[in-house]
Amino acid sequence: MNVILLGAPGSGKGTQAEKIQAELGLTHVASGDLFRFNLKNRTELGLLAETYMNRGELVPDDITVAMVRQRMQEPDIQNGVLLDGFPRTLAQAEALEKMLADMGHQVDAVIYLEVPDDEIITRLSGRLICRECQTPFHKVYNPFKTCPFDKCNGEYLYQRDDDKPETVKARLETFHKQTSPLVDYYENQDRLIRISGLGTIDQVGEAIIRSLQQAGHRSP
Ligand code: AP5
Repeated sequence: MNVILLGAPGSGKGTQAEKIQAELGLTHVASGDLFRFNLKNRTELGLLAETYMNRGELVPDDITVAMVRQRMQEPDIQNGVLLDGFPRTLAQAEALEKMLADMGHQVDAVIYLEVPDDEIITRLSGRLICRECQTPFHKVYNPFKTCPFDKCNGEYLYQRDDDKPETVKARLETFHKQTSPLVDYYENQDRLIRISGLGTIDQVGEAIIRSLQQAGHRSP
C-alpha cells in the first residue's frame, strides 16, 4: 500500500508513523525529517529550507518535490510508502500521483488526523524530539528525557526551533490556507479516511491500523 498521513502540525503524524510502519511494513518518508537532516548537515537545501521553516511557511513546491522524488527512487520504496507531511499543496499532490504512476503505483489511502487547534498548541509546546532518530515525545503525554531506543544511545531530546508559540501559530495558518484543500481533493477521490486524533496515542494508532487493514482488503 501507499499511504499518506495528512494532518495539521502536531496532529500526531510522526508519532503514529512509527507504529504504522512497524505494523504494515511500509517505508516512512517524512518531508520535514528530510529537510531537518539536510539542515543538520548544513547542505544548501537545508539552509534554504530553514528560512521557510523558521517562519512557519512551506518550502516552495519545486524544491520539495525534487527532494521527495529523489527519496522515492530508492529501492526500499517499492514495497509501499507511508508519506508524512507530503503532499501539502495541490501541486505536490499532482506531482506525487505522477511519481507513483511512473512506478506503476497509486495512492491507496489518505489518513486525515483531525485535532482541534487548541490541542495542537498544547502538544507542540511540550514536544521533544530525538536528534538522532527524529522520534517525537512529549513532556507530559509521552515523557522521556533521553531517547529510549538502543540505536540512539540515550541521545538527549531537544525542542524544535519551529515549536515556538509564534511559529506554531504561523504553521497552523499555513495548514488551514494551503494544505486543508487536500482534504476535499482526496475525499472527492474516495481515498480519504478521517480519524479522530484525540484519545491516547495507542487508541489513535489502533483506529488507524484497523482502517488501513479494511482499506487494504477493499483495494484490488
Ligand atoms: P514537519 O516536520 O512535517 O512538521 P508538521 O507537519 O508541522 O508536523 P509536526 O512534525 O510538527 O507534527 P506531527 O503531526 O508529526 O505531530 P507529532 O507526532 O510530532 O514540517 C516542518 C516544516 O518543514 C514545515 O513547517 C515546512 O516549512 C517544511 N515542510 C515539510 N514538509 C513540507 C512540504 N511537503 N512542503 C513544503 N514545506 C514542507 O506529535 C506532536 C506532539 O504531540 C508530540 O509531542 C507527541 O508526543 C504528542 N502526541 C501525539 N499524539 C498524541 C496523542 N494522541 N495524545 C497526546 N499527545 C500526543
